[in-house]
Amino acid sequence: MSTNQHSKSEHAGRTVVVTGAGGGIGGDYVAAFAGAGANVVATDVAAAEDAGTALADRVSAAGPGRAVFVAADVTSDTDWEAVVATATAEFGGIDALVNNAAIYQGLGTKAHLTELTNESWDRVLTVNVRGTWQAIKAVTPTMRARGGGRIVNISSTVARMGAPGFAHYVASKAAVDGLTRAAARELGPDAITVNGVAPGLVSDDASRTLNTGDYIAAAAKGRALGREMAPDDLVGAVMWLAAPSSGFVTGQTVVVDGGGVFT
Ligand SMILES: NC(=O)c1ccc[n+]([C@@H]2O[C@H](COP(=O)([O-])OP(=O)(O)OC[C@H]3O[C@@H](n4cnc5c(N)ncnc54)[C@H](O)[C@@H]3O)[C@@H](O)[C@H]2O)c1
Repeated sequence: MSTNQHSKSEHAGRTVVVTGAGGGIGGDYVAAFAGAGANVVATDVAAAEDAGTALADRVSAAGPGRAVFVAADVTSDTDWEAVVATATAEFGGIDALVNNAAIYQGLGTKAHLTELTNESWDRVLTVNVRGTWQAIKAVTPTMRARGGGRIVNISSTVARMGAPGFAHYVASKAAVDGLTRAAARELGPDAITVNGVAPGLVSDDASRTLNTGDYIAAAAKGRALGREMAPDDLVGAVMWLAAPSSGFVTGQTVVVDGGGVFT
């Protein structure tokens, strides 16, 4: 397929791994890639297995791509071996990875940095940062063997804004941005691009758990586009950075927030 094509059909026949895909925004990525003809390995923690399997069955039935679910914790190298083995056995390898999994809704509540525990700090940094690195490490050999690949790390605009209430999460997303740049440099010689997408506040279950309706409305008002953000608003940027046609873009983190943050 030509690398100059920007249509969604350039995903046809490719294989994409999406983490944190048991529900939430990750589920929208799975549906979008499969709808564009990609084969998708959707992964999430074991507790999300029922929802993830139902999602995979649903998008496979809709086609044209096929999705399978693998229960995998992003912080487990053993689980990553299983994900890569499934992708290889079912679809022949991996062309793109979307590192979407994170402790976000799992934060439960916001808290001042003086009230965070060492344990919660370590948990958030381990999943959001170390897990992203482990994912990159796990897929690199198969991408190399295929002559290249695309990695998309999901960041957040809070890394730039320093939004209060979850300093560990903010720090983790800033670390993901640094990892994106480092990995882009190190994997460039293998024709593997590494980019990020930094969403603004999405009006989803996770955000409604952590924020008041007034907070979400204020975020919408502060945007150039002046409206709330839906999960679907992220799909275009993620799919392009996972596609062949973005092949000369690497080390970038693209803000997708309707024009709220201009840095
Ligand atoms: N919702 C927003 O407003 C918003 C804004 C900016 C960035 N983001 C980012 O977008 C992504 C998706 O957000 P969401 O709103 O769907 O959040 P969410 O909390 O609903 O989803 C995160 C998913 O990651 C999974 N996960 C958590 N720990 C894991 C682990 N150890 N191994 C594997 N999977 C694990 C969860 O089970 C869950 O399905 C996250 O990276 C989040 O940080 C979200």
